[in-house]
Amino acid sequence: MEKTFLMVKPDGVQRGLIGEIIKRLEQKGFQLVAGKLILMTKEQAEEHYAEHKGKDFFEPLVEFITSGPVFAMVWQGEQVIALSRILNGKTNVLEAAPGTIRGDFALHTRLNLIHGSDSVESAEREINHFFKPEEVLDYKRDVSRWL
Ligand code: PPS
Repeated sequence: MEKTFLMVKPDGVQRGLIGEIIKRLEQKGFQLVAGKLILMTKEQAEEHYAEHKGKDFFEPLVEFITSGPVFAMVWQGEQVIALSRILNGKTNVLEAAPGTIRGDFALHTRLNLIHGSDSVESAEREINHFFKPEEVLDYKRDVSRWL
């Protein structure tokens, strides 16, 4: 089953949107298999966004992402990488459609609430960057047992 790394950014944590974001991913049918609050170090942030080093938004992005706790998660499901990015909405705030997380809640391109891996390779790299293997759980969901 495909896995992806999703992270509620400091603006989403401060605005109390962790629950709303988790709700949307659960409602879509994805399964949460790991999650924790992290205060990212500058080194962690620079490594996470290494491919953007040198771009004009790199320094403000690192400063923003280390400015407060983020909620790091691993989600699992069919085509979760591509489908969760559709739920997130476009990066550019002017292109983020209503109905998406960014379209519904973000006012700025920098303060855009959520990060999602953009490929199988980056999902694997980002999951390993933030989680130990034993923190990512393998469990079956069976609602009928609990009702
Ligand atoms: S690129 O150049 O197309 O690869 O960049 P993009 O994928 O659109 O964005 C990469 C990450 O940088 C964030 N970003 C910004 N941060 C601050 N200010 C500005 N102007 C800005 N533009 C893009 C963007 O949200 C991406 O972060 P993640 O965490 O991957 O969403």
